[in-house]
Amino acid sequence: MLSPGFPADMPFFTRALARQGAEVIGVGDQPQSELAGEVAEALAAYLHLPELWNEDRTIDETAGWLEQRGLHVDRVECLWEPGVVLAAKLRARLGLPGLSVEQAVAFRDKETMKQVLDRAGIRTPHHYRAATRVEVWSAAERVGYPLVVKPIDGAGSADTHTAAGPDELDRVLSAVQHVAQVSVEEYIDGEEYTYDTVCADGRVLFENVCWYRPKPLVTRLNPWISQTAICLADLGTEEISVGVDLGRRVLNALGFETGFTHMEWFRNAAGEAVFGEIGARSPGGRLPHGMNFTADIDVFDAWAEAVCHRRLSQDTAKRYNAALIFKRAEGEGDRISRVDGLEPLLARYGPFLPVIDLVPVGQPRRDWRQVVTGDGWLVARHPDLATTIHIADRIAAEVRMVAE
Ligand SMILES: Nc1ncnc2c1ncn2[C@@H]1O[C@H](COP(=O)(O)OP(=O)(O)O)[C@@H](O)[C@H]1O
Ligand SMILES: [Mg+2]
Repeated sequence: MLSPGFPADMPFFTRALARQGAEVIGVGDQPQSELAGEVAEALAAYLHLPELWNEDRTIDETAGWLEQRGLHVDRVECLWEPGVVLAAKLRARLGLPGLSVEQAVAFRDKETMKQVLDRAGIRTPHHYRAATRVEVWSAAERVGYPLVVKPIDGAGSADTHTAAGPDELDRVLSAVQHVAQVSVEEYIDGEEYTYDTVCADGRVLFENVCWYRPKPLVTRLNPWISQTAICLADLGTEEISVGVDLGRRVLNALGFETGFTHMEWFRNAAGEAVFGEIGARSPGGRLPHGMNFTADIDVFDAWAEAVCHRRLSQDTAKRYNAALIFKRAEGEGDRISRVDGLEPLLARYGPFLPVIDLVPVGQPRRDWRQVVTGDGWLVARHPDLATTIHIADRIAAEVRMVAE
């Protein structure tokens, strides 16, 4: 398991592997002493590589270290985006099954990804790769406006911009000068969702659709917004089933076999599902916990069982919608000074709020550009979608964290 202790949900996945009977060897850049208790307990061995992202070195050192200790490995797993290709390269070196380097690149490079999907007849935004200003201008001419410029392998909407016309594109070009390669894309207007799965041998064992409110890019550009992500109970509606169908076709086209996937898609005004992006990993933003709340399951275990035994034995029938709401403190201070508006909502909706995890008063505020959870997250769940939205919206608007 690459990076078994970071980011936030990796300890849960690592522990789940051990629970499924796997002997788990961790390789990561965190010192062993900094691994959380549940990770340390789950690991049979740990190789600390401070330069984990130096891929050639990590592959050499890991292969050498395994050989020295006579450790035989069956699978290499990584659920963190920057390590997906590294994991594939390590598999290649060790001669192991799982996602190949070529497949991993199609999950990582946003142009390669869309080219593979275009060949399979899947609806992607009109797109081009560009490494220079001239290439961006020429792509813009072909794509038209409005358009999106984003890093070829970005994350968290960082360095992602829209341009409504040439003047704006000129400004965007200055803003992305430091990005080596970008994707220039047709802007898709519409609602934005995820399609996430746990698969084994190409079979979808578990699937989840989460509805982002608002779109992640809007949240990125407006710090006052509390992002909400609702894991939906019903994937069979007319609105959502188009995305599920798209997602299954995408997985087939990419030849995905076993593990977690996280796709994003748009539903445009015509009701058509348009591909956004996909990762061969679990989603961040505590979404796996949202999935757990939809069906009272443990999706960490589900993934580990799929990886170790190619099956899913939990009952994953969904009974609830689960909304995750992320808060960002207002004000200029460095520490959280108070939380307003929570008490009345607790009194009214307490039984529907299984998670209230806010940075305590007096503690330093966090950088929401670095962590999706920002200064804390709450979960609201309810069998009825309209009620779930109502509670989530009230939390988003009325719970205010202040740092002054
Ligand atoms: N073609 C597009 N049309 C409309 N919005 C887009 C498009 N591409 C990206 N976005 C917006 O920007 C966000 C970040 O882009 P995405 O491709 O998901 O990259 P990241 O890896 O940073 O999540 C998306 O969640 C969406 O809100
Ligand atoms: Mg994204």
